[in-house]
Amino acid sequence: MSEAHLLQDIFTRRFHYVRLSITDKCNFRCQYCLPNGYECKSPQKSLSLSEINHLLAALVELGIQKIRLTGGEPLLRKDLVAIIKTIKQYPQINSIALTTNAYKLHHILDECIDAGLTHLNISVDSLDEDNFADITGSNKLKTILNTIDYALDSPLQQVKINTVLLKNTFAELGQFLSLIKKQPLDIRFIELMETGDNQPFFQENYLAAHILQDELLAQNWQAVIAPENSGPAKMFAHPEYNGKIGIIAPYSKDFCTNCNRLRFTHLGALRLCLFGDDSFSLRHLMQDATQKEDLKNAIINLLVNKPKQHLLSKNIHGDVINFSQIGG
Ligand code: 5AD
Ligand code: SF4
Repeated sequence: MSEAHLLQDIFTRRFHYVRLSITDKCNFRCQYCLPNGYECKSPQKSLSLSEINHLLAALVELGIQKIRLTGGEPLLRKDLVAIIKTIKQYPQINSIALTTNAYKLHHILDECIDAGLTHLNISVDSLDEDNFADITGSNKLKTILNTIDYALDSPLQQVKINTVLLKNTFAELGQFLSLIKKQPLDIRFIELMETGDNQPFFQENYLAAHILQDELLAQNWQAVIAPENSGPAKMFAHPEYNGKIGIIAPYSKDFCTNCNRLRFTHLGALRLCLFGDDSFSLRHLMQDATQKEDLKNAIINLLVNKPKQHLLSKNIHGDVINFSQIGG
């Protein structure tokens, strides 16, 4: 196997993309995730900058080219800019992405971009201030929308919105579509996923992605052929719109076929499937530079455990209590 494809699983899926959670803390209270706000459940500290650096050194030698920082809310890390700078030191990484609720992003977006940030995903579950406050516990919708406008004019390569698909968000489809008529802004609707903690909310608010897809097709949106290794979103375009729509439908049957990502938790555990039962702690191999080969071998050896597909259709959603633990 060539060096660049060291990370290939037994189903010939190749991995060039890592989602790295850098904290489980969050300042929002999204109803499907942390309805009562963040509560510290573990005395363990999130990975330090030095541990992250040792992990990165191993990952780039395994062919990883893209890192996405997730949380919880990654902006709550005071050393976020330093983390981005550390990633930027590795020329093998051609994409440094951030998934954030953007609550405080306007304070440090320029610094993040100067440090090397290239891609930004901002979560916006409603365009109505009251609904937004209701879902997230935050009244900062306006600030967040202004930050999106600012980001669109910045040198970032790509800005996207993530919207969890709820019955309510579907009711706002018209507003979401107006937002991307002029702006070259993609919105990705993510089907609501059931976790250990959100069952009643899930039962009440889940809307199957095919309902959105049927509505888009009825409004003349057309499926776009996705480039290889582009991840799980099905994309749709419309000649009168500058932005595209993506649908991420984890409950659809072929969702896992093109899985191109690995996840590390903020405590340094490798998580092979979002909906699995296993996290493999590798933190002990991130303590100094001499452990790099051991860390690389451990990651390669663990890949055999990556399941072919999740078991959501059988109502088995793994051990995820909520996504603030593992970054979604
Ligand atoms: N189902 C779907 N999306 C979720 N997210 C968090 N929890 C869930 C869930 N249960 C989303 C966030 C954010 C992204 C990282 O994951 O809203 O957009
Ligand atoms: Fe925070 Fe994201 Fe969970 Fe919302 S979904 S509470 S922003 S971690």
